[in-house]
Amino acid sequence: MAYGGYGYIQPGFRPDPEDYLLAEFKVVPKAGRTLREAAEAVAAESSIGTWTSLSTMQHRVLSKLEARVYAMDKKTGLIRIAYPIELFEDDNSSQILSDIAGNIFGMKEVASIRLEDFDAPKKYLETFAGPAFGREGVRKIVGTATRGKRRPHLGTIVKPKVGLSPKEGAKVAYDSWAGGLDFVKDDENLTSHPFSRFEERLVRYLEAKDKAEEETGHKKIYAPNITAPADLMLKRAELVRSHGGNCMMIDVVTAGLSSVQFMRHQNMGLFIHAHRAMYAAYARNKAHGMSMRVLAKLCRLCGTDQLHIGAMLGKMEGAVADVMQIHNDINYDGKNNHWKNIKPVFSVCSGGLSPLQIPGLYKIIGDEAVYQCGGGVHGHPSGTRAGAIAMVQSLQAAQNGVSLESYAKFHPQLAQALAKWKKK
Ligand code: 3PG
Ligand code: MG
Repeated sequence: MAYGGYGYIQPGFRPDPEDYLLAEFKVVPKAGRTLREAAEAVAAESSIGTWTSLSTMQHRVLSKLEARVYAMDKKTGLIRIAYPIELFEDDNSSQILSDIAGNIFGMKEVASIRLEDFDAPKKYLETFAGPAFGREGVRKIVGTATRGKRRPHLGTIVKPKVGLSPKEGAKVAYDSWAGGLDFVKDDENLTSHPFSRFEERLVRYLEAKDKAEEETGHKKIYAPNITAPADLMLKRAELVRSHGGNCMMIDVVTAGLSSVQFMRHQNMGLFIHAHRAMYAAYARNKAHGMSMRVLAKLCRLCGTDQLHIGAMLGKMEGAVADVMQIHNDINYDGKNNHWKNIKPVFSVCSGGLSPLQIPGLYKIIGDEAVYQCGGGVHGHPSGTRAGAIAMVQSLQAAQNGVSLESYAKFHPQLAQALAKWKKK
């Protein structure tokens, strides 16, 4: 007997969503195997089983903890598996992944397998802390939470990605804020380097932020990248707090979700900006790995307040429908649904955007996202400040339903951006 024999395949089973974690996979069985055999192997390996029958198997274990394949579609290879919620430790994102996204990806029984989606009972979701601030908490900092004030937040990433000194970077950050942006962040690969030590950068950027706030009368945000081993992240976050910052940035895939949970558990009064660098190592292949949707839901549970979800019109992969699905998942907060007590996460659209794409982005996602342009601000022919102004002007054109070309007639910074980036 191989994986089968324990009754993992139960097409008639109707799982109670209050008691089961439900996961959807796309499976291609290995040559010579049926979808049923592959599904059986996946259900076994991700719950209680292994490649053979066991003399140690107990009826109690089998009846209470086995995963059940309750739907299979031979045409698409989609299977749905119900996992008894007792399989999952409360508030432990690593453990969920070790179950439903663990050994299965390397099993010979499948040619490929992709975890597309999951959902879980309210009582389990609420064992996680979720975002401390969430979308609305971040909006409150900037002053855009109330009706009539709602708009997208505008942000940038200091460029070059790495290499500027703290003093040089702080000037770029200042110009961005002074030009009208709300948010400035480090890039994903900038942490602490000989040319830009974390603490000096933090201090200088926060000074620049204070100056910009004083001059503009608007509250600004700086997201210093604290990504490192967890003990060091904690030290860096303590520095952010002691110097009066309001945000910390974590590369959530490279640092790992358990690090995110660790930082969330500290309750430091700083919101978490999540960059997803490396997500595509498992999410880009549509036949194998794990969808960005699953990562996004886990980030929400673990407590990120902002999350990069894809820019749709920029340089990174991600079809509009897929990115908007993620956006809906992390904003899902209807009164009577089981996610209602986990705060919504502010979506971040970033990667290859410039003022030229803002009206298109506004049409798709509207007010409820952070729009970020890195090269699209600092590549402006007249420099960062003009680039930031052009970004603001582009949003104004979109909000007023005016074409960029018409708006540019009276807005020279936007006109320069169009001249540089508009495809001939
Ligand atoms: C990001 O971290 O999202 C990127 O640095 C965006 O940079 P870009 O706008 O220059 O593509
Ligand atoms: Mg980047």
